[in-house]
Amino acid sequence: MPTTTLELKTPRIVTALPGPNAKRVLEQDAKFMSPSYTRDYPLVAKRGHGAIVEDVDGNSFLDFAAGIAVCSTGHCHPKVVSAIQKQAAELIHMSGTDFYYESMPQLAERLARTMPGSEDKKVFFTNSGTEAVEGAIKLARYATKRDKMIAFYGCFHGRSMGALSLTASKSTQRKGFGALLSGIEHIPYPYAYRCAHGHTAETCGAEILEQLEGQIFKRLFDPEDVAGIIIEPIQGEGGYVPAPKFFLQELQRICRQHGIMFIVDEVQSGMGRTGKWWASEHAGIEPDILCSAKGIASGMPLGAIIARESVMRWKPGAHGTTFGGNPVCIAAALATVDLIESEYKENASRMGEYIFGRLADWTKKFKIVGDVRGRGLMVGIEIVRDQRTKEKAADLRNLIVDLAFHKGLLVLGAGENTVRLSPPLLIDQEQADFAVQTLEDCFREAEKKI
Ligand SMILES: Cc1ncc(COP(=O)(O)O)c(C=O)c1O
Repeated sequence: MPTTTLELKTPRIVTALPGPNAKRVLEQDAKFMSPSYTRDYPLVAKRGHGAIVEDVDGNSFLDFAAGIAVCSTGHCHPKVVSAIQKQAAELIHMSGTDFYYESMPQLAERLARTMPGSEDKKVFFTNSGTEAVEGAIKLARYATKRDKMIAFYGCFHGRSMGALSLTASKSTQRKGFGALLSGIEHIPYPYAYRCAHGHTAETCGAEILEQLEGQIFKRLFDPEDVAGIIIEPIQGEGGYVPAPKFFLQELQRICRQHGIMFIVDEVQSGMGRTGKWWASEHAGIEPDILCSAKGIASGMPLGAIIARESVMRWKPGAHGTTFGGNPVCIAAALATVDLIESEYKENASRMGEYIFGRLADWTKKFKIVGDVRGRGLMVGIEIVRDQRTKEKAADLRNLIVDLAFHKGLLVLGAGENTVRLSPPLLIDQEQADFAVQTLEDCFREAEKKI
């Protein structure tokens, strides 16, 4: 028998939610915290282990959100904790911009070897996803001596001013912040479920490529002026939408043809989440620049720009950071890479297949499920009011997310009307079954509202 709720495999709710201790935290939070945060439900986390999170009132939850797809090896994996503790007792900070420490190139080598393509790679460490994208913009401009960029509607690349200029996810993320980077055009993302041309998940997007070559390159930007095209191979915040393989390959071909940097943002889709190191591998593409963060260090703040050696040739001083690649984060990342390599990448693939198998008939089973999509443990379920009109049902999606919380399952929304499942990569079948069964109950309740 488990002695603490953290040893449970599935949740246990013991108070009304939020409980009394949680309420106290919510009051203080409302008074002192920036109102820009977007909490969907009042979870006040205290500790976590594996895929279980316990709140301040002793309620335990099964975590299928993983801190927005971050806790790849679960909460507080003993090997990650011990790596962090050991490193913290030895050396907390040095700054890799001005000094050396041996773990930094060690991690760079491990990551470089995972990135597709035979050319050697070089790595720059950051503190976050947005900084990785920010650096990728600078690197693309520096390497090409050009300044225009192309990005996609629905993609999220971060919130610092450069990355935000590429982000075209929700207008609230831009509203009120004035002028962003100039020289950026957005084109539609190949969103098969809502394909304007009625294509399938394999063929959606041909017209977008025509638009890029026939309109953007002819009427707006000479391709010789374009520094980079950036894409998420599977849209994350946009609703867990995978781009077709042919589309990514064609985009790569177009980039190569014009000397444009092919930048792939794998901040959410990378580090084993789709069952391979990078979602790019499923499409057989070889990015020039790859951005990583989120799952890279199991929750410690770290990001990385991994680029072909011939691309990352900026001069000393061209780019730097005080904290990026901090020794404690690097130690957590090295332990994370070991765990993903030895077991969790395969587990993500296996559990992903299992979950997709269980969701296979959900568009038939539920009138409000329009689409089930994703790869590995990146699962999106799009909620609609009517399968025929595909009218988006954001209210029902929000209701499902809230109902799941009250039943002890943590999930998040993505896009306007998609439920996202992004659990730690270590979940087992019992936990997958619990999550699917709980969602089934929530979907049944939500369906009564239409
Ligand atoms: C694909 C992608 N890129 C960039 C970012 C920004 O990362 P961060 O929040 O660490 O700055 C995110 C965050 O959700 C993301 O999903």
